[in-house]
Amino acid sequence: MDAKIVFWTLAFVDISIVLGFAIAGVRQIRRGDVARHRRSMITAGLLVLVFLASYLLKVALLGPEDMDLWSARSRTVLYVHETGIALMLLAGAVAGSQAWRMRGTRVVTRELGDPPAALSARRWHRRAGWAALAGATLAAAMAVGVLAGMYGRAGIF
Ligand code: HEM
Repeated sequence: MDAKIVFWTLAFVDISIVLGFAIAGVRQIRRGDVARHRRSMITAGLLVLVFLASYLLKVALLGPEDMDLWSARSRTVLYVHETGIALMLLAGAVAGSQAWRMRGTRVVTRELGDPPAALSARRWHRRAGWAALAGATLAAAMAVGVLAGMYGRAGIF
């Protein structure tokens, strides 16, 4: 199998695991488990960074994709997929920065003696967190189509 297709197949596994951790993270915070939520979301964020670093390596070593061979439909699927990735990255960064603002506050520590978190940090963390999850869901769903197109062009099926 072509090295680029192997790379994108692994990237798909990576984004699926990211989505799995993000969904688990939301379920954890909804039942009040801040420590597990924090761990799940940081793991998801690290896996996104692993993808970004490996993507840079892939472009340097294997080069970009040959888009001339892509149909208009495949390009549209890729564009929607990339929009999901962009939303996940931007909103995830905002959610992460607002989580940082909440550090040491009682919403995180669950200690009544600690200061309360700023309402704006809580609100923006929640909004951006949901937006990041929506982006990751869109990106992972569209990645199925992107990968199917790659397999098709390579004659795998
Ligand atoms: C960047 C990755 C993260 C994402 C995508 C994310 C996502 C979310 C979402 C969607 C909610 C709202 C859940 C609901 O509507 O009930 C939430 C709440 C919360 N998250 Fe995160 N989160 C992230 C990282 C963190 C980190 C690192 C912490 C650190 C402890 C944290 C602490 C919290 C807390 C305390 C709440 C509840 C806030 C409140 O009650 O208003 N999150 N998060």
